[in-house]
Amino acid sequence: MRRIEFHNREKETKEIVKILDTEPSLITFVYGPINSGKTTMISHLIKELPEDYTPFYVNLRGRFITDYEDFLNVLFEIDEGGGVDNVTEYVKSALKDLGAVSGIPIPINLFNQIFEKKDKSKDMFKYIEQFFVEISKTRTPILIIDELQVIGDLKVDGLLIYKLFNFFVRLTKEKHIAHVFVATSDSLFLEQVYTEAMLSGRCRYLLVDDFDRETTTAFLEGHGFTDSEIAMAWEYCGGKPVFLLELIHADEKERLARKMLTTRVNQLKDLLDYLEYTKPRITIGEDEYMVEKEDIVAILSRFADVERIDDSGLNRPAKQFLIKGNR
Ligand SMILES: Nc1ncnc2c1ncn2[C@@H]1O[C@H](COP(=O)(O)OP(=O)(O)OP(=O)(O)O)[C@@H](O)[C@H]1O
Ligand SMILES: [Mg+2]
Repeated sequence: MRRIEFHNREKETKEIVKILDTEPSLITFVYGPINSGKTTMISHLIKELPEDYTPFYVNLRGRFITDYEDFLNVLFEIDEGGGVDNVTEYVKSALKDLGAVSGIPIPINLFNQIFEKKDKSKDMFKYIEQFFVEISKTRTPILIIDELQVIGDLKVDGLLIYKLFNFFVRLTKEKHIAHVFVATSDSLFLEQVYTEAMLSGRCRYLLVDDFDRETTTAFLEGHGFTDSEIAMAWEYCGGKPVFLLELIHADEKERLARKMLTTRVNQLKDLLDYLEYTKPRITIGEDEYMVEKEDIVAILSRFADVERIDDSGLNRPAKQFLIKGNR
């Protein structure tokens, strides 16, 4: 199987490098539609980081998380061998062979001590802060939480979101100890986090969108596509990296592209058919609203000739239904 090289995202990478070059001061939300390449970009960036940065990458997808406690749990990578009480000493030894960690290392005895307590989050955050303070004496720590929508789906209550993100504000804006990046495709959940954690002036947004036409062209040219194949790929698939990858691997490119478009059209037809039978409910504030088929059709038809529309005046339940399901 041929591996496809990472296609450089120059604009986004430049922006991140600029952020990393300055003192940590804001939480960075990395957002963009489903499958646009957020995780791929972050993983690539981690590999390319200079020595003076230490990344801690936590991907919530596929982890066993049913409540806030589980969430706190996955932030850590338990060090079974470490029977240390002194965080300073522990960081010194942990830094020697940190390698690729998928969480914040913690010696098992400290982890158990903290987990027995009633208010765990206070002590866990205290540990993380201490850990980062120690690291920041020699390098800049970067905390990355990927696939945040996993906790969005848990309906974690507002107070916990508030506590978590205020801890991130402490690490960035207040103490300038660590960079914090949070990535998700669920922009509605981001809006909720923004409101519940009162993040005005405390965060910034970085869009990782599907490839634009120029990037798609460069990507496909790099894989030997002719001009007409590129035009066809753009026409049928747009700039979604996963679809483009499928085309790169395919022998009969045009046939596959047509098939992919037909699948997409059928998905939308099926959605409209589904709405003939039921009216999904969307919660806005304290109230529930029904999603009407006509409102969905009205929104989708505005995309007939353009890729982007102004969202003012759109029916809100219908809009949220489409966004929530990444439809
Ligand atoms: N810059 C790139 N160069 C080459 N391939 C890419 C690039 N970006 C994404 N891809 C391909 O597209 C696939 C989907 O990307 P990825 O999983 O990173 O998207 P995502 O935005 O994190 O998705 P999700 O919304 O599900 O979290 C990857 O498996 C990867 O193979
Ligand atoms: Mg991802």
